[in-house]
This record gives sequence, C-alpha cells and structure tokens, in this order.
Amino acid sequence: MRQGSKSVLILGGYGAAGTAIATLLGQRIEGKIVLAGRSLEKGRKRAEKLDREAGATGRFSARSVDVADAEQTRQCPHGQNVVIVACGLSVSAIESLVQGCIANRADYIDITPNPRKLEIFQSMRTRIEASDSRFVLDAGADPGLPGWLARWLCQASTGTVTDIKMYGRYRSADIGWGGVADILTAAESQGWKYNGGWIHSRVWDVRYRRFEGGLGSSICVPVFLDELQALPQELSLERFSFYHAGLNPVTDALMTFERTGILGCFSFESRQRAFYSALQRFTKKPFGLVLTAESRADGASRRISIGHSDLYRATAIPAAILCTSLMEAAGMRPGYGYLGEWASQDKRFPDKLQEEGFWYRFGE
Ligand SMILES: NC(=O)c1ccc[n+]([C@@H]2O[C@H](COP(=O)([O-])OP(=O)(O)OC[C@H]3O[C@@H](n4cnc5c(N)ncnc54)[C@H](OP(=O)(O)O)[C@@H]3O)[C@@H](O)[C@H]2O)c1
Repeated sequence: MRQGSKSVLILGGYGAAGTAIATLLGQRIEGKIVLAGRSLEKGRKRAEKLDREAGATGRFSARSVDVADAEQTRQCPHGQNVVIVACGLSVSAIESLVQGCIANRADYIDITPNPRKLEIFQSMRTRIEASDSRFVLDAGADPGLPGWLARWLCQASTGTVTDIKMYGRYRSADIGWGGVADILTAAESQGWKYNGGWIHSRVWDVRYRRFEGGLGSSICVPVFLDELQALPQELSLERFSFYHAGLNPVTDALMTFERTGILGCFSFESRQRAFYSALQRFTKKPFGLVLTAESRADGASRRISIGHSDLYRATAIPAAILCTSLMEAAGMRPGYGYLGEWASQDKRFPDKLQEEGFWYRFGE
C-alpha cells in the first residue's frame, strides 16, 4: 500500500501532545491524520488549522471517540494503519484497544504511562505475537527516551558498564490537563533506585544538578519509570538511578504532598486543578527537555546528554519516528515493547532525532 493511502488515528489528537504529534506527522508522512477525542467540534477546528498551516486540504480530519466506551475504543482502529494514544487510558480501555488493533491489523504507539500497562500486554502476549500488529509503549520523550538513552550509552561505552546514573529535567508552562493528571499519578514513582534490585532510596537521597542546554539548576530526586524496570538486568548493571528535577518549587511541593497523601482530603480533580494553576503561573523559561546518562565501565566514565528546546515537539519526535518506521514496515516483527527496545533496533534513530531538532553533547 502506498503511504499516501494510509491513515493514522491519534487519540487525544487535538490535545497538547496529540497536536504536536499530528503537526510533525504531517511533515513526515503522506497519509491521512485523524484527530480523535470526545469533541468532534474541537477536533474539526484543530484539523482545519493544521490543514491551513500545512497548506493542504483534507490531510487532517476529526473523529469523535470516547475511550471510556469499550465498543468505540475497540472499533476505532478500523481502517487505520497506526493508532497513536495521546490521552489517558484505563486498564479496560487498553485491553479494548489492543483487541481492536489486532482485529484490524493496525499498529499501536502510546506516549501515556499507566502502571498496569505492561501487565496487560504480558497477559495478551500470545495473541499479540500471533497477530500482524506492533505495539510501541511509552514512545514519548520522558517517559520514552530514558530507556533508549541508557541502551545507547551502553552500546557506545567500551568495557563492561556496571553503573549508570541518569538525570532528567523538562520545563514547559503548556503541559495539558491530561498531562498534569499523569504527573500527579506518578508521585509514588519518586524515591526509587536500582542496587541489585529496585529499592526505596533514603529521603535525603537528592542531588543538586546543573543541567546542560541552558535548563538551569535544580534539586533532583530518584524516580522509577516502568520502561526502566527490567533495564538493569537486561544491561547487566549493578546500579542504576534516574534523578529527575521538578517543574517549579510550588509544583514540587504539591508533588511531595501528593506522595505523602497530605492533601488526600481534597478530590483528585481539585489537586489536579491546583497543580495545573501552579504549573502555568510559576514555570518560567528556559523551557525544553534534557536527559543525561553517565556510565562507569572498567574505571572509565562516559556521558551523553540529549535535549530539545520544546518539550512537546520533543515528545512528538520519537512517536513520529516510530510511526514512520512502522508505516514503512522496516522489518519490525509483531510484538510489544517500550520505545527503547524498538528504537535500539534502528541504527539511524540517533540521527533521526537530531534531524528533527534534538541536540547531543558527549563527555568523559
Ligand atoms: N511521554 C511523554 O514525553 C509525554 C509528554 C507529554 C504528554 N504525555 C502524555 O500525553 C497525554 C496527554 O497529555 P496532554 O498534555 O496533551 O493533555 P491534554 O492537552 O489535556 O490532551 C488530552 C487529550 O485527550 C482527550 N481526551 C480526554 N479524555 C478522553 C476520552 N475519554 N476519550 C477520548 N479522548 C479523551 C482530550 O480531549 P477531550 O477532553 O475533548 O476528549 C484532549 O484532546 C498524557 O497522558 C500525558 O502524560 C507524555
């Protein structure tokens, strides 16, 4: 099938991340791009705007899909080559969507974390591997790129890497309502590191870090991401940690309250609203994303930093690169895995990130 006759559906397609992915895909592929969400009206307006910006007619269109409705979620991959998920999905919605993708031989990419996602994919493994569909999990920037960067660093290091430390920071005042919900939900993932196994770190185990790429300095706490769970064993590491900076001092305080449950008497929506307001009010420039990985191998150390000046563009880039690879088939077998597992199979992945505006710094 020619790429021009292919179609990609983006769930959450007119939200902040969905729009960034749609814009970039419009530049990378020739097929149609369908923006889905609960409001057909909002989708249409965004599709018209994207068409205008691209100087095209009918490349972008809209569709009403509510992922809270199992039947709509199961049916939405019909006629699509790839479904990209840029909105939160419940456990049952993930199951419905995976079934729909398999039934319609569609590929799947998501950028939205869910602590139970891997478990769901593991339970559907046999069906997935017998299907024609490929499933790429957490294919945004953060989560997404840390798992890939650690693998890349290991490949680039000479000697046996036993210890990797990673640092990450992202800053944007435009994080959407759905993105804020996911950040708050991830509060419990703070305070973890790998030392022969994933363990709780001490409360005072924080780092003060000056970030490259002009992203300033910040206190960082060790965090756990689902994509990192099996990584230390896969890379035969003895120690692994990912220290992450917050967005601004007020949202950092709200995250601490979230983690300790102090504000539990308020509804999740009220806490989300408080975080959302604090994010918009107190997050100041510089904006962007930076991830650094440092390795130690046979007494020698090595460092790679990658970054981008726009968080949402950075989020869209890995998802759009993977979408393009899936549409070109590119020898990727049916199955599921995190971004790092798929991207490590593509030797040109670092070049592709750079072509789309990521910068790299290398050091000893
Ligand atoms: N990995 C990364 O690097 C990364 C970076 C940024 C964001 N993200 C993730 O991307 C997701 C979206 O974040 P965002 O900042 O773009 O949020 P957002 O601007 O609020 O966008 C969310 C979108 O989802 C749609 N949506 C909400 N409920 C829906 C439902 N039941 N059915 C269908 N569509 C629904 C919304 O439209 P309606 O409300 O009109 O339906 C909206 O278009 C979040 O899960 C976030 O964690 C990941």
